[in-house]
Amino acid sequence: MGFSTFIFPLLFIPYVSAHGFVHKVWIGTETFLGNTPNAEPTSSIVRQIDDVDPVKGANNTNLNCGQDAQFASNITEANPGDPMSFLWTGGDLSIWPHNVGPMLWYMTSCGDTDCTTFNSSQAEWFKVAQVGRISGDPDGNWYQGLIRTSSNMLLAAADWILDDAAGVPANMTLPTNILPGAYLIRHEIIALHLATDLGGAEFYPSCTQIRITGNGNGKPTSDEVVRFPGGYSDTDPGILVPDVYDDPPPPYAFPGPPIAAFVGAAPTPTTSAHAPPSTAPATASKICKLKRSSLTAGMSKRDLTESIRPSGHLTSLMRTLTLAFGGRSH
Ligand SMILES: *[C@@H]1O[C@H](CO)[C@@H](O)[C@H](O)[C@H]1NC(C)=O
Ligand SMILES: *[C@@H]1O[C@H](CO)[C@@H](O)[C@H](O)[C@H]1NC(C)=O
Ligand SMILES: *[C@@H]1O[C@H](CO)[C@@H](O)[C@H](O)[C@H]1NC(C)=O
Ligand SMILES: *[C@@H]1O[C@H](CO)[C@@H](O)[C@H](O)[C@H]1NC(C)=O
Repeated sequence: MGFSTFIFPLLFIPYVSAHGFVHKVWIGTETFLGNTPNAEPTSSIVRQIDDVDPVKGANNTNLNCGQDAQFASNITEANPGDPMSFLWTGGDLSIWPHNVGPMLWYMTSCGDTDCTTFNSSQAEWFKVAQVGRISGDPDGNWYQGLIRTSSNMLLAAADWILDDAAGVPANMTLPTNILPGAYLIRHEIIALHLATDLGGAEFYPSCTQIRITGNGNGKPTSDEVVRFPGGYSDTDPGILVPDVYDDPPPPYAFPGPPIAAFVGAAPTPTTSAHAPPSTAPATASKICKLKRSSLTAGMSKRDLTESIRPSGHLTSLMRTLTLAFGGRSH
């Protein structure tokens, strides 16, 4: 079989695997599987969505817990101060496709319930953590890009073809002094690669059900909580971001309320106790960083977004295949 006949069908894969969901959650050393969008629901602590595509528009009711989010049937115990990790993947468990924009964590109390039937559409959420651009990085790369880390480019390409989860999780720490009880954690990626235009921001919310133990008494004040939708506006400086690709990178203004005061100063990203698949420096993290260049000046932003990722993968894919086929290209 010729190289070109083999590679040609693969050109179409990126358009199928776009965007994604929370595939795995870790609390301390315990692992929990998420629910694959649209698959038969499994017993999970992560609420299932029905579409890997982003929620668009700050007034969209799906901003609450994601696309048509359903109650999850399980809840698990966590201690105040526990590290939590969230692995985002593409719909086919490929590496998360985006790398521009913040990652945020909100929580809301499920009241007297165990969260499994708690409807959060009117819930009041408080912010517990957020990460934006990597502090001190002169190129202005985002923490979000780090979750695309793979052990090497060959594996990254293989992960993308084989049905195997790729990337590393995003990490946070539960507040150390939080009032015990059942909570939803609303973890969100806001992908900003199209956010130079009004309505371009892509929201990816995901909700996880946990019961926090201990004897803390920390809770938010009434001016630290928001509803979703309600907490954001399409014109917020962190959602409509015309200068997102400026060089030098401007500071980023997170949308939503400040981190609740009881949580303490904005936590820096933490590492956690578990050991996910081997990692290395983020070699593949700049694929969506679409700096304008003469080469791409004539293309629309959407063209750029859709075209750059596949070509990035194809480069590594070609390398893989070239090795696999001993360099025979005809
Ligand atoms: C979203 O809701 C706000 C508040 O009700 C309203 O002012 C705004 O016009 C809405 N935006 C859109 C795009 O509908
Ligand atoms: C929560 O309530 C809203 C508004 O009534 C409804 O649209 C949504 O489907 C409910 N969510 C769940 C998971 O039942
Ligand atoms: C619910 O989660 C707990 C871990 O917190 C696990 O031990 C249990 O097996 C899960 N239940 C189901 C039905 O999956
Ligand atoms: C999250 O923590 C794990 C475990 O320490 C680490 O391997 C991973 O690189 C961290 N994620 C990021 C994005 O830094």
